[in-house]
Amino acid sequence: MANLVRFGVSLEKELLHRFDACLRQKNYNCRSEGIRDLIRESLVKQEWLEGNEVAGTITIIYDHHRRELVNKLTDIQHDFGSSIISTQHIHLDHHNCLEIIAVKGRPQVAQKLADMLKAVKGVKHTTLSMSSTGKCI
Ligand code: NI
Repeated sequence: MANLVRFGVSLEKELLHRFDACLRQKNYNCRSEGIRDLIRESLVKQEWLEGNEVAGTITIIYDHHRRELVNKLTDIQHDFGSSIISTQHIHLDHHNCLEIIAVKGRPQVAQKLADMLKAVKGVKHTTLSMSSTGKCI
């Protein structure tokens, strides 16, 4: 790891105890790694609020037997073609499909795509996992 900097943090004992307990529960070996991850999470949140480029995944669950549903989902994805870098389709069972759509681009566009897919009648569940291109964290 290049350019490591050490710094001191003052906080209430009780707050630190609770943080340490939380780190143990999440299998962290040291405080520093837990704090680094918190900082990165905070920076990624900020990127989604005001960044120019983010990356993430949209996951949707739907019943492909519903009339017109697949066509609507495909039409929407074509409209956002420049932001979609990959898709994976998994046939979960006879009715249900799981689709994972990897996105990269402006955060507002990724959010809009997720919202539009979610609003299609017959889509059972949608999640947007907000991550980063990795350049700024
Ligand atoms: Ni399928």
